[in-house]
Amino acid sequence: MNYKNKIFASWPFLDKEEINNVKKVLDDGWLGSGEFVTTFEKQIKKNLLLSNGKYVTCIKTGTDAIKIALYIAGVKRGDEVILPSLNFIGAAQAVIMLGAKPVLCDINLKTLSLDDKIISTLITKKTKAIISVDYSCSISPVKKIKKVCGKKIRVIHDAAHSFYSKLNNNYVGNFSDICMFSFDPLKTLTCIDGGALVLNSKKEYIESRKLRQLGFEINANVNFFKKKKVNYDIESLGFRDHMTNVNAAVGISQLKKIRHIKKRKYEIVSFYEKNLKNLKNIKIPNYDKKNIIPFIYPVRVSKNLRDNLRHFLKKNNIFTGLHWYPLHKMSLFKNCKKGNLKNTNLVADELISLPFHARLSNNDIKKVCDKIRLFLNE
Ligand SMILES: Cc1ncc(COP(=O)(O)O)c(C=O)c1O
Repeated sequence: MNYKNKIFASWPFLDKEEINNVKKVLDDGWLGSGEFVTTFEKQIKKNLLLSNGKYVTCIKTGTDAIKIALYIAGVKRGDEVILPSLNFIGAAQAVIMLGAKPVLCDINLKTLSLDDKIISTLITKKTKAIISVDYSCSISPVKKIKKVCGKKIRVIHDAAHSFYSKLNNNYVGNFSDICMFSFDPLKTLTCIDGGALVLNSKKEYIESRKLRQLGFEINANVNFFKKKKVNYDIESLGFRDHMTNVNAAVGISQLKKIRHIKKRKYEIVSFYEKNLKNLKNIKIPNYDKKNIIPFIYPVRVSKNLRDNLRHFLKKNNIFTGLHWYPLHKMSLFKNCKKGNLKNTNLVADELISLPFHARLSNNDIKKVCDKIRLFLNE
């Protein structure tokens, strides 16, 4: 495909650094889960300033990380799991795969993520877990939600959007029960595909490692090369969801750039704010520029303009995203239990994610803003 002159909604920030690190893995030949994965896990812990009581397990994708978190939370057939309808489809699919039932809830209009009041009306005896999703700019109030849930219900923090963001000067990952990150191709930090769990106990950490790789607690490279006697015994079931060294090599290189990516994203936020703030027909997000690395740049325009604006921008080689088409409108979730979805219905028809990634030039952003102004006649 010819990508020239096209402005994409998201784009990875890769260069020779990643290529050279992947080459090291390919030259070495140990492609599966090994030392690069261990190093990446250690570096995630270091970069997020996670305490000694926190454990990181890298997984094949963010969706699989949620599936493993649900498993650790003990979610089984017939249980209910509450999660927002304004959501990526992965978590809801994982709930169904485990035989449980997604209960689709609304979002807070200001934060676009859920809050304690919304979920309190949906909790029943069957509720086993809540998946609290960060929406680009806002960290979901996991502590308040945990208070409403009590001890029996686990709160899984879906922080796919907020790697390296902070709340009250604390990196995301430090203050939730089970926290999940995604490093898919479009995320702020990519591993091509990848995910991670941050866990609060050694017991659950070991469980997560067994679950990610067919019941093996330690990586094959350690088992074969470092142990006196290879352990072939397996005690429990597991998926084949481990991260590979190739993916981890990309992640390690990306971590070196995270500060630059953060800085560039803030510059783009400021540029959008300056150019779009005073337009009547568009609402821009209010980012806390000190603590948050926004993943997307979601703006709201009135329902009758939204699709035409997207089409107009596309005709001008500017591609936008949609976060998201709500789950309750999809056939798969037709018969799911749902809360009142008033806010979700309102914003789902208005949201557009504007181009937002560290590779955008000032000229690109200027073009996006100029075309929006032209379309809105402002
Ligand atoms: C909020 C949210 N949760 C979970 C996921 C799943 O992550 P992955 O794409 O790594 O499977 C995504 C991916 O876009 C997401 O946006």
